[in-house]
Amino acid sequence: MRHNAGSQDTIVHQPVMYREVLDFAKDVIGLGKNIFVDCTLGEGGHTELLLEVYKDLTIIGFERDSEILKIAEKRLTQYKERINLINDNFRNMANHLSGAAGNIAGMLFDFGISSYHFDKSGRGFSFSRDEQLDMRLDDKNDLNAFYVINKYPEKQLADIFFEYGEERWAKKIAKVICGRRKDKAIEKTGELADIVTYAIPKKYRVKNIHPATRVFQAVRIEVNDELTAISRSIDDAYKYLAKGGVLIAISFHSLEDRIVKDKFRRLSRGCTCELERKFCTCESEPIVSVLTKKPLVAERDEVLSNNRSRSAKLRACIKL
Ligand SMILES: C[S@@+](CC[C@H](N)C(=O)[O-])C[C@H]1O[C@@H](n2cnc3c(N)ncnc32)[C@H](O)[C@@H]1O
Repeated sequence: MRHNAGSQDTIVHQPVMYREVLDFAKDVIGLGKNIFVDCTLGEGGHTELLLEVYKDLTIIGFERDSEILKIAEKRLTQYKERINLINDNFRNMANHLSGAAGNIAGMLFDFGISSYHFDKSGRGFSFSRDEQLDMRLDDKNDLNAFYVINKYPEKQLADIFFEYGEERWAKKIAKVICGRRKDKAIEKTGELADIVTYAIPKKYRVKNIHPATRVFQAVRIEVNDELTAISRSIDDAYKYLAKGGVLIAISFHSLEDRIVKDKFRRLSRGCTCELERKFCTCESEPIVSVLTKKPLVAERDEVLSNNRSRSAKLRACIKL
């Protein structure tokens, strides 16, 4: 089955790997109470398509950003009888889904942030705009990018650039930031992007990739505690699926994909230990069966029409 992404030319964020998502969903229609959970609603692109194609489906959508949730709500008005939109972090899904345990046909995670965040939010997610350093997805969040850049000790900054940005110049960049902020606080994305560019020697800059890309990713992950949320939520998610229900996860960088891959592998062995534990002590039966030995990537035509899909990796498993 192949679908167009509907009215995509009129919206900002194009749902990534939407055909693959629809295909996986097709196989679970009718399971449990025919509920699908979109854990990362964003502007509602995937949700709109699922509702349009599968008429009996109802969707619970989580979105931690109240601004983007309003956009999705407006977009999905015609489906209001079939949706329940929740303004919360998906890591808190247990607070909302307990009544639906065992009745959910499918769950989708489409990690990261939306085009809206880069282009319209004004919250400093992009180095191509000069905005205040903020990067919060959630206005209830106390930590922001200004605090991280101006208050974190040098070692901690270097660690997050290395760990969350896989930036080999992490130490040098942290040192230059700490030197600059002695004179004046670093307030804007433009200042940060310039400092990072200055700190990386010219011959080590990668063609066609802005030198600040990895640092911006790292700060965003730190501010929003993104990786802990992924790890905890996959541990929770499978509990709510009906037998045969599908869990789909789309990642955009290797840190996200590694967590998903590792979690799926462990669940397929019946292991529910914390990721941090070195030795598994579980003796359980397999909980899921992994449907994607290798992650799926977007087809060529999608990559050509939606640049964001070029780095997407989709993994899926079903509950046994
Ligand atoms: C890539 S976008 C999703 C786009 C959506 N699938 C679509 O087609 O329009 C990811 C969305 O998830 C939200 N998000 C990120 N982390 C979240 C979390 N832990 N809990 C809830 N929402 C989250 C972001 O605010 C963003 O809007």
